[in-house]
Amino acid sequence: MGIRTRNDRKKQAFVGFFFAATALSKAVPAPKSYKHSAFTLRSDTEVLPYRNASLTIDERLDDLISRMNLQEKAGQLFQSSLNLPANGSTTLSNTTIIAVERNFQSHFNLAGAVDSPRKAAEWYNNLQQAALNTRLGIPVSMSSDPRHSYSDAVGSQIAATAFSQWPGTLGLAALRDVELVRKFANIARQEYLAIGLRGSLHPQVDLSTEPRWARISGTLGEDADLTASLVVAYIDGFQTKEFGNQSVSTVTKHFPGSGPVEDGEDSHFTYGKNATYPGNNFEHHLIPFKAAIAAGSRQIMPYYSRPMGTKYEEVASGMNKGIVTDLLRNELGFEGIVVTDWGLVTDSIILGQDMPARAWGAENLTEIERAAKILNAGADQFGGEQRYDLIMQLVGNGTISEARIDSSVRRLLKEKFLLGLFDNPFVDAAAADSLVGTTEFLAAGADTQRKSFTLLTNNDTVLPLKDCKSLKFYTEGLNTTLLAQRRITTVSNPSDADFALLRLRTPFEPRPGGFEKNYHSGSLEFNATEKARQAAIYSAVPTIVDLFLERPAAVPEIAEQAKALLVDYGASGEAFLDVVFGTDGYAPLGKLPFDLPRSDKAVDESKEDVPFDTADPVFKFGHGLGYEGCE
Ligand SMILES: *[C@@H]1O[C@H](CO)[C@@H](O)[C@H](O)[C@H]1NC(C)=O
Ligand SMILES: *[C@@H]1O[C@H](CO)[C@@H](O)[C@H](O)[C@H]1NC(C)=O
Ligand SMILES: *[C@@H]1O[C@H](CO)[C@@H](O)[C@H](O)[C@H]1NC(C)=O
Ligand SMILES: *[C@@H]1O[C@H](CO)[C@@H](O)[C@H](O)[C@H]1NC(C)=O
Ligand SMILES: *[C@@H]1O[C@H](CO)[C@@H](O)[C@H](O)[C@H]1NC(C)=O
Ligand SMILES: *[C@@H]1O[C@H](CO)[C@@H](O)[C@H](O)[C@H]1NC(C)=O
Ligand SMILES: *[C@@H]1O[C@H](CO)[C@@H](O)[C@H](O)[C@H]1NC(C)=O
Ligand SMILES: *[C@@H]1O[C@H](CO)[C@@H](O)[C@H](O)[C@H]1NC(C)=O
Ligand SMILES: *[C@@H]1O[C@H](CO)[C@@H](O)[C@H](O)[C@H]1NC(C)=O
Ligand SMILES: *[C@@H]1O[C@H](CO)[C@@H](O)[C@H](O)[C@H]1NC(C)=O
Repeated sequence: MGIRTRNDRKKQAFVGFFFAATALSKAVPAPKSYKHSAFTLRSDTEVLPYRNASLTIDERLDDLISRMNLQEKAGQLFQSSLNLPANGSTTLSNTTIIAVERNFQSHFNLAGAVDSPRKAAEWYNNLQQAALNTRLGIPVSMSSDPRHSYSDAVGSQIAATAFSQWPGTLGLAALRDVELVRKFANIARQEYLAIGLRGSLHPQVDLSTEPRWARISGTLGEDADLTASLVVAYIDGFQTKEFGNQSVSTVTKHFPGSGPVEDGEDSHFTYGKNATYPGNNFEHHLIPFKAAIAAGSRQIMPYYSRPMGTKYEEVASGMNKGIVTDLLRNELGFEGIVVTDWGLVTDSIILGQDMPARAWGAENLTEIERAAKILNAGADQFGGEQRYDLIMQLVGNGTISEARIDSSVRRLLKEKFLLGLFDNPFVDAAAADSLVGTTEFLAAGADTQRKSFTLLTNNDTVLPLKDCKSLKFYTEGLNTTLLAQRRITTVSNPSDADFALLRLRTPFEPRPGGFEKNYHSGSLEFNATEKARQAAIYSAVPTIVDLFLERPAAVPEIAEQAKALLVDYGASGEAFLDVVFGTDGYAPLGKLPFDLPRSDKAVDESKEDVPFDTADPVFKFGHGLGYEGCE
């Protein structure tokens, strides 16, 4: 995923990539037609038609595309990751300047957490200034993976840090409240806008029909209709009613629904390349995408997985003409941008781990053949790639027509015009700190964290706990500073306590590798040692368990042995304590967004593509108790 440097390009030229090398040597234009001072767009020299906001977008597009050379067009077809400078500066790195000013790359996703919105906004403005320094001054578009909850895994989710912090999307699904989803998306949109993020690499509407999949925490759960109803509000909140300069463009993913991963293994990895349909249930997974298309999602991302045993070719969806052109565009009528998932062409190293290109089913194709296959499939943009050289060659030798490139460039540039980026690409950096993580936004996230807790058992209506001042607690997973602040008396031995409070997380099998280790996979059961350890606590003291459900855990023993079992989908220790004690009237209002299976065996025997089919689940979708007197 690393940024390609000039040296890489020389190496390529050396091995005979003539077009790329030639184009590069000619393609370092000085800013001529426009002199832009930072934070001012208007030229003080001339105004070309594509800069003229009085013209229609189609007129502006015609003018702009007619002025672009092939390399400038090729640059539009790539979107790759950028990190804020690790040293806290707002200066662009050399590789970023090369990507923007020399390679005309124009779309990026911001990786990594944002600690200072102001600095992120200043850096973003510097990036736009670099884009304005190019010959045509085409502004940059920045997108982001989800960054409003608790999960943090490179390539899928980012810690909230300065942003308001909400439960994960599963928590929104647990509350089943369309207006709340709209509110969340509307707040997240405003925080994105403050630092120049204009694309969301979400919503993720894959159905969690295979409970072991490592990416369930980013979904809206197992139910197609619930997912479909919520995604409409989600898209609405990000895009706004009138798509324009206050909008964030949503990328609904992962087409055609990536829940049915074989044996629950994720297709970032070679062992997870197959999507499988033993229940013949392919169509079912399209339900949320149909809703997203009807709601006007501007972009869709196909996944890496290759569909096995369907009428489609068994290659990764992003390079699959049957999936992208026949199904998505022709059958479902999607007219927006198709951006592939990251890294279908080029092998890379991510967090120190060798990651082969996810060209599943097309591993034997060369890089340039993969690129041609992706374009011929109908995708507009290569995610996580920077291979302008391949486009230059494919058009240069007549494999791909320039008209084909133009049709994707037009879609991608149209988005920039609609977002208002040509009219003002800058953000108000001085205001960013006051626009991100406002008191109101933080409170809305904190409130939703509390409400989204789901109460699965509550023997003898132990919750909410009363009389806490005189009680002694044995705790796990709770911050000692926080316990002290709350004046909660703790003991180190369960048998000395009146109650135990355990905050646990869904079991998983640790995987090796810097990147892979963040993808929690495999068994959903605690191992025998851990079960015995917990059982000793449950038998010593009445225990309240809270389980962070990033996947549907198989924990019948906890339901049996704990006095009460809560689950959360990303929630702070403060939120947990408020729910446990009913502080300020808080009560768990969530309903399970999926079934909780009985065992790994039950999961193994169920069909990857079929919802609600594990044998004898411990709790069903929709289960969730209230506190007495509360609904
Ligand atoms: C912008 O376009 C409008 C409408 O065609 C035209 O009247 C105006 O002169 C143009 N402005 C410039 C600066 O060219
Ligand atoms: C910080 O990082 C940027 C970009 O990587 C670099 O240009 C700058 O020189 C660095 N500044 C310091 C003080 O190290
Ligand atoms: C970045 O580019 C500047 C100017 O060309 C150069 O002085 C500096 O050494 C480069 N830094 C790195 C880390 O390559
Ligand atoms: C956004 O667009 C509206 C018209 O659609 C315009 O009035 C407003 O000035 C624009 N805002 C910015 C910040 O460009
Ligand atoms: C994928 O499916 C093919 C065909 O059924 C099979 O040969 C292969 O083992 C499966 N799994 C992986 C990881 O390729
Ligand atoms: C790729 O090439 C290898 C070695 O030549 C061959 O065994 C394999 O079947 C090929 N795979 C595909 C999908 O064509
Ligand atoms: C163009 O280049 C690609 C990749 O090297 C190759 O597969 C294709 O056959 C070439 N086409 C022509 C017409 O030379
Ligand atoms: C514990 O909580 C305090 C107060 O909320 C916070 O400042 C601190 O960072 C937390 N420590 C850990 C390890 O989470
Ligand atoms: C069992 O699970 C615990 C906690 O999840 C873990 O620390 C431990 O390494 C596991 N033991 C074995 C043998 O896998
Ligand atoms: C809680 O109640 C359930 C259902 O009545 C029972 O099976 C379980 O053993 C009880 N657990 C405890 C710890 O009381």
